[in-house]
Amino acid sequence: MNHTDCNRKIYGSGLPGLVLNIAVLLVIGYLYQGCTSTGNAKNGDTVTTSQYRPEFHFTPDSMWMNDPNGMVYYEGEYHLFYQYYPDSTVWGPMHWGHAVSKDLVHWEHLPIALYPDSLGYIFSGSAVADINNTSGFGSKNQPALVAIFTYHDIKGERAGRNDFQTQGIAYSLDKGRTWTKYENNPVLKNPGQRDFRDPKVMWHKETGTWIMTLASGDHVCFYSSPNLKEWTLESEFGKGIGAHGGVWECPDLFQLPVEGSPAEKKWVLLVSINPGGPNGGSATQYFVGDFDGHRFTNESTEIKWTDYGKDNYAGVTFSNIPESDGRRILIGWMSNWQYAQVVPTAPWRSAMTFPRVLKLAKDATGFSLQSLPVDEIQLLREKKTDVPETLITADKPLELAIPSQPYPLEVLAGFSIPASNQAYVFGIELYNDNGEKVVVGFDRQQSKFFIDRSKSGLTDFSKDFAGVHYSGIVQPASAIDFHLLIDAASVELFAMNGLVTMTEIYFPLQKLDKMKIVSIKGNVELSNGSVYKLTSDKY
Ligand code: FRU
Repeated sequence: MNHTDCNRKIYGSGLPGLVLNIAVLLVIGYLYQGCTSTGNAKNGDTVTTSQYRPEFHFTPDSMWMNDPNGMVYYEGEYHLFYQYYPDSTVWGPMHWGHAVSKDLVHWEHLPIALYPDSLGYIFSGSAVADINNTSGFGSKNQPALVAIFTYHDIKGERAGRNDFQTQGIAYSLDKGRTWTKYENNPVLKNPGQRDFRDPKVMWHKETGTWIMTLASGDHVCFYSSPNLKEWTLESEFGKGIGAHGGVWECPDLFQLPVEGSPAEKKWVLLVSINPGGPNGGSATQYFVGDFDGHRFTNESTEIKWTDYGKDNYAGVTFSNIPESDGRRILIGWMSNWQYAQVVPTAPWRSAMTFPRVLKLAKDATGFSLQSLPVDEIQLLREKKTDVPETLITADKPLELAIPSQPYPLEVLAGFSIPASNQAYVFGIELYNDNGEKVVVGFDRQQSKFFIDRSKSGLTDFSKDFAGVHYSGIVQPASAIDFHLLIDAASVELFAMNGLVTMTEIYFPLQKLDKMKIVSIKGNVELSNGSVYKLTSDKY
């Protein structure tokens, strides 16, 4: 995002930050008073900000969060660091907040890991386990975790300089509990490029070097290093290739086996872009090709997005997951810079997506990423209800019984489509007696999935929020499957076995405590369906 745009990111720590924060809380308080006094909340179900607190998605206890950072697995723990401003519910001087999990679904909050210092705010970056002690920060017996991040020098930016973003490192010898910044920071100076940030570092086995992928305005740069301290520019990728509706941010580069032909491996380059997403604002595109330790060669012929919903940004993957596990796991920030700072939640802002496993599928049209919730979702499953095979017509929706606490829920539904029936539109509707709803559906004529949050409750905090948002075009199929994760204020759709992903947030005045399968046009046959009640046991 544009860090000079004061409408969106507001600089200010100390007193200004505090004043801003109080103002934000007062506005939210007023908003809620407005909601209840219009009589919208019924049956004593008064709207409170806690109504939107996710039950199984990660959120900070309080205050502002954006991108996931430094995700690394080490000695039985998944570390999630994140862009954090502890003094306000809007963006400000960035710290790295910190949490750990043993299973990706239960999280323990830990103290802030990295604070801003004289070199600047601590922007996004990554973390690696330096097992061979290439940095010399640890030893073979006690390897260091090394964080590689961007320093954003606010004074330099305000002075109109172009070189205010540099890369720094810090290390921890106690499983990420405490961090020491490297005395010779920055390790990578700025060549005179305003946007020069979000280093994602990985170990490249074949060349025996660390590779840093760094976003640099309208392209990424690849740097190599033997020790995480000295970096050499290898190459650049992206000018004039892919989507360029906004600045490139938060890249990631990793190798994946091709599904169905595991001997074949390809490299995937993720690049977040803001604005310029397929439904407006922030989104993440990806390229598939090869990387030889120096250069990335792109094979994708069209623009590809990891998620077509409006609320999955800056997603990157964990490093150091053991080969015996072998998964490539991504977490994204479940918001969009268009409205992230004005969504009606307090005393926190933003949540992360549920962790997803990425796979690479291949068909006649080329390679596509597949994302599915990590299997650990099963640890949250409490009660399963099967839904019988049913023909759904426009005048005969299928009500799905859901528990008195309407979320968290996981819904799996498979539909078969009569070949002749060309014009159907159907979906799963979450709704309440107040006329509020979110519909997650499929439109055959357009051959696209969609999420309609136009009547989802509070939407007028931003002109960019309400609306019907569509996926890319889906290959014709006689069966359509939905996998939904539903939390207090979000839905994640994994359709066509994860080939289509859409993530969106919403803020109903009253809980969406009912669910039905609706046909908006034509008939559709539910061939199998299950609804799981999930536990809210996140910590
Ligand atoms: C992406 C981003 C990054 C930057 C961070 C600052 O959302 O703009 O490019 O490092 O947020 O908080």
